[in-house]
Formats: sequence, C-alpha cells, structure tokens
Amino acid sequence: MPSEHGCAITGWASALPTTVVTNQDIMTLFDTSDEWIVERTGIRQRRAADGPFVAERPPASPDGGMGTTAQLAAQAGHAALERAGLTGADIDLLVLCTTSPDQLVPATSSPVANALGIRGGGMDINAACAGFTYGLVSAAGMVGVGAQRVLVIGAETLSRITNWSDRSNAFLFGDGAGAVVVEAVPGESSLLGWDVGVDGSLQPLFYADHGGTGMRMRGQEVFRKAIRMTVDSATKSLEMAKVQASDIALFVPHQANVRIMDAVAERLGIPGDRVASVIQQTGNTSSASIPIALSDAADNGRLNEGDLILFAGFGAGMTWASAVWRWGSGTPR
Ligand code: UT7
Repeated sequence: MPSEHGCAITGWASALPTTVVTNQDIMTLFDTSDEWIVERTGIRQRRAADGPFVAERPPASPDGGMGTTAQLAAQAGHAALERAGLTGADIDLLVLCTTSPDQLVPATSSPVANALGIRGGGMDINAACAGFTYGLVSAAGMVGVGAQRVLVIGAETLSRITNWSDRSNAFLFGDGAGAVVVEAVPGESSLLGWDVGVDGSLQPLFYADHGGTGMRMRGQEVFRKAIRMTVDSATKSLEMAKVQASDIALFVPHQANVRIMDAVAERLGIPGDRVASVIQQTGNTSSASIPIALSDAADNGRLNEGDLILFAGFGAGMTWASAVWRWGSGTPR
C-alpha cells in the first residue's frame, strides 16, 4: 500500500483482571453445564473485573487497580510501551478501542492518557468486537500522514454490562486489555490490505441500552452472520494485499466462539495450527480479544520477521474489520 511512511508494531502486551470465573462458577448462576459451554463455545474460563464473582468493587482511580476499562487499558498500554522502549511522552496519539467505556463523558482514552503520561491526541473507537482492527487500520493511516508513534489499546470490562442471569449469553464474555505500539519506520507500510464495514440495520441483533439490563443478543443470528461477514471481509483484505490465504502465517480472529473461529479459518483455507486462540482462557473480550491473542502468539514465539498476519473481527452494529499486516520491527532504532 503506498504510504508516506512505513509502520511497524514495536511493542505489544496484554492485561487481565485477577478474578478467574470458571464454567463451574457460571453453573451456580443458572441451569447450564461445563460440557455445554465448552462444546458450544470452546470457553473454559474468563476473567472478571466486576460481577457476582468479584468480592470487592474496584477503586475509581485509573492507576489504583484492575477493575475498570481504563485501569486494564493503562496496564496493557504501559507494558506495550516498555517493550517498545518508549514512554507515554513519546506517543502522538492514543487510540482506545472499547465498547464498555467507564463513563459517557469523557472518553476512556482521557484517564488512560493521564495514567500513561500521554500528551498527544487521545480518542475512543467503539466498533464493538471489530474495534481493535478499526484502531490498527486508523493507526497505520495516522502514521501515513505523519504521526511517529500511535498506541492502540483494546480494553473491556464487559462484566459490568453482562446480564448475569441470562443463560443465553452470560457465559460468553470476559474482561481484559491488549495493546500495540505502531511506529513510523523507514520503508513500506506493514498494513498491506484492510477492510472495515458496518450494517446498521442489524443493530437489534446485539445491543445494550443505557440503564437497561445489560447486553442482549440473538445468538444464532449473530453466529450465522458473523461467519459470512468475517470471511467476506478477510477475503477483501487478502485481495487488497495481493496475497493468498496460504501465505498467512498467523490468523488472529476475534475470539467470539471457537466454532466461529474454526468455521472462518476453514472457509478461508487456513489450517488450524495457524490460528491464534486464547478464547479457552479469556472468553470473548470484544475489542481486547485480538490484541490479547496477538500478544500471546508473539510472546510464545509464533511470529517471525516478515510473517503475514490476518486480523479479522465482527461485532455489534453489526461491524466488521480485517487487515493483512506484515510482522516485523522495521529498521531498529
Ligand atoms: O462477539 C460478538 C458477538 N457474539 C457472538 O459471536 C456470539 C454468537 N453466537 C454464539 O456464539 C452462539 O449462538 C451461542 C454460544 C450464544 C449459543 O450457542 P447455540 O449453539 O447457538 O445455542 P442455541 O441458542 O441454539 O441453543 C441451543 C440449545 C437450546 O435448547 P433447545 O431449544 O435446543 O432445547 C437452548 O435453550 O441450548 C439451550 N441453551 C443452553 N443450554 C445449556 C441455551 N443456553 C444454554 C446454556 N446452557 N447456557
């Protein structure tokens, strides 16, 4: 893709709240079983910052604990900056992707910027579970018009908007954050292809109202549409990048349901051993799921210089986004 500047991911990290909620814990809430949840979703446990299994309410300050979206975001952001050898003062723009902001006003990026010492720009992106990929594409675009360093964070405390008595979806969601530093580097952009979209007519399939009872989802319909949307979007990104699915070293899908992840990978022709998966341990962490899975893969040595990564996600809205990204640190500082 033509660009004034190249860009590269030079730091990455994730952060999870300490409270583990197992399927056995979920079984104390309503009539369900570990077998059913594992078979239908692949999920064995998730982390929660709030909800019935968290004994103490989190303190309000962004740097005082791990109970809010801003706290999780700041922790992941801080670790990603450290890995890149940077501080918040080096960041030109913070892009905070979340569908569970701490407040209506201001944007959650504001307390996160404060906690990290960022004085560049700060903004939130709410594209639900597609949010991080929207953020990554936006970051590459900002680098293309002159930004030097952009911190992209996906962070969620879905436990605060989960209806814990709704057995049709309460077992799905988890909390967490993942972050990447996107830096300007000499040469080509690492973003080789991308696609973003929204079909607002599908809002009724998945929503949460102000003051309502939490997230409401028509699971089966979301399931069916998610597979088609994700495959279509990924195909567009692969075409823009002029690469084949067989060229992809690692597919990092939104961690919504292992059956959706498997179905998408199979339709694209990507073998299972090239799919990044953390959903067994994290559940569906919406905007945070892709950067958490990416960090896990990078930390476990699954990525080598020059590898092609395919990111793809979908979410409430309904939104979708995908990107083909070349992994590598660019020219070292
Ligand atoms: O991140 C973004 C968006 N969200 C998603 O990606 C979620 C997409 N949807 C899904 O992942 C799946 O639809 C679910 C995991 C939410 C549900 O799985 P499903 O295979 O679509 O189940 P279902 O809703 O079709 O229900 C099948 C059966 C029903 O019983 P009958 O009618 O067949 O007798 C349900 O009553 O399973 C029953 N059921 C449960 N059984 C045990 C529903 N919830 C539960 C439960 N435990 N928690």
